[in-house]
Amino acid sequence: MDAVEQLNATSAPARVASRTMQAIVHRKYGMPDVLALEEIERPVPGDEDVLVRVHAACASIGDHHVVTGKPYLIRLSPFGGLPRPRNLVPGAAMAGRVEAVGAKVTMFRPGDEVFGQAATGAFAEYLVVPAKLLAPKPGNLSFEEAAAVPWGATALQGLRDAGGLKPGQRVLINGASGGVGTWAVQIAKALGGHVTAVCSTRNVARVRALGADDVVDYAQEDFLAGGPRFDVMLDLVGNRSLSDCRSVLTSKGAYVPCSGGGGDWVGPFLRILGGLVSSLFTSRKLKAFVMTPNRDDLLFLKELVEAGKALPVIERRYALSDVGEALRYVGEGHAQGQTVIRIAPELAVRSAS
Ligand SMILES: NC(=O)c1ccc[n+]([C@@H]2O[C@H](COP(=O)([O-])OP(=O)(O)OC[C@H]3O[C@@H](n4cnc5c(N)ncnc54)[C@H](OP(=O)(O)O)[C@@H]3O)[C@@H](O)[C@H]2O)c1
Repeated sequence: MDAVEQLNATSAPARVASRTMQAIVHRKYGMPDVLALEEIERPVPGDEDVLVRVHAACASIGDHHVVTGKPYLIRLSPFGGLPRPRNLVPGAAMAGRVEAVGAKVTMFRPGDEVFGQAATGAFAEYLVVPAKLLAPKPGNLSFEEAAAVPWGATALQGLRDAGGLKPGQRVLINGASGGVGTWAVQIAKALGGHVTAVCSTRNVARVRALGADDVVDYAQEDFLAGGPRFDVMLDLVGNRSLSDCRSVLTSKGAYVPCSGGGGDWVGPFLRILGGLVSSLFTSRKLKAFVMTPNRDDLLFLKELVEAGKALPVIERRYALSDVGEALRYVGEGHAQGQTVIRIAPELAVRSAS
C-alpha cells in the first residue's frame, strides 16, 4: 500500500481506493479545443501537500493564456514550457474537500472543506496543492462559489498592495464588469475607497449594484474627461495610453496596470515594462504586479465574504468535459463575472455546512 492509499484508508475507509481520475489534459498549445477529458493517474501529495477532491474550479483568462500559449512569453514561465506544455492538467482556482494530507501538514485533515489556488492541475477530480496555498472554505458559500474567490486576490493585491488604497481615497477601476473587476469594485469599497467604475452600457446597473459610487459607461463618456482626480487607477483593460491613464491621477496617484496589449509575444508585459521606465520621470507611481497566491489573502477574502462585504459573481457554469468551451468564452474578454467548472456537480452547489 503506498502513502496515499494508506492515508485514504485511514481517513475514509468506505471509499473505494482508485488510482485514476478524470482530468482535462493539455498536451499542445492552441485554441481551447486542444483539450481533452481523459482518465489519468491521480497525483500523489508530497510531505507539505494536500490531496484535494476538487468539487469546482474557476476558468479564467489566465488559464486561457496557459492553454493557448499566448502571449508567447508565458511559454518561458513555470506555467508554460517549451516546445510543449510542461503541466499536463491546467486550472488554478478551485474548492473541494481534503482527501489526504502529506506527513508535514498539520493545518488540514481529511474531510476539511477548502479553497485556494494551485499553479496548475485544478481541472481534474483530484489536485495536489501545497498546504500553504489553501484556506478553509468560507462557511457561507457553496463549493462552486468558493472556487471563484481566489481570483479576488488579484483585485486585493492590485488595490491594497500595489495601489496602496487607503480609506477615503478615490479609485478608478477600468474593466469593472469582468472576473477581476467585479471583485475589485467590492474590495475597493470594503477598503474604504470612493469607487468610480468603467464598464459598458449593459453592465452599468450590475456594477452599481456591486457598490460603485460612480459609473462611467464607456460607450457614452470618456473617463479622461474629468481630469486628475484619482488616487489609484486599477486598469484591467489597458486600452488607453500610459500618459492618458496618468492624466486622471492626482500628483501622488498610483497607476496599477493589470492588462494591456503587447500582442501575441509579450501581452500585458509590454505595458508593465514601459510603465516602469516612464515612472522614473514622474511623481505619479506605476505599480505593476503579478498576482501571487498565498493563504493570508485567501483568509482576508474569506473574512470579507463571510462578513457579506464581497461575494463572487458567477456568470456561467460548465461541466468538466466543457472546459474548452468555458475557456473559449473567457478568452473573448467580455465576461460578466466568473466562469465556474462543476467537477463534482452534486457536491459543488451544496450549501456550506
Ligand atoms: N496581473 C495579474 O496577476 C493578473 C491576474 C489576473 C488577471 N489579470 C489580467 O486582468 C485583466 C482582466 O481580467 P478579467 O479576468 O477581469 O477579464 P474579463 O473577465 O475578461 O473582464 C474584462 C472586462 O472588461 C470589460 N471591458 C472590455 N472593454 C472595456 C473597455 N473599453 N472599458 C472598460 N471595460 C471594458 C469587459 O466587458 P464588456 O466587453 O462588456 O465591456 C469585461 O467585463 C486581464 O487582462 C487579465 O489578463 C492580471
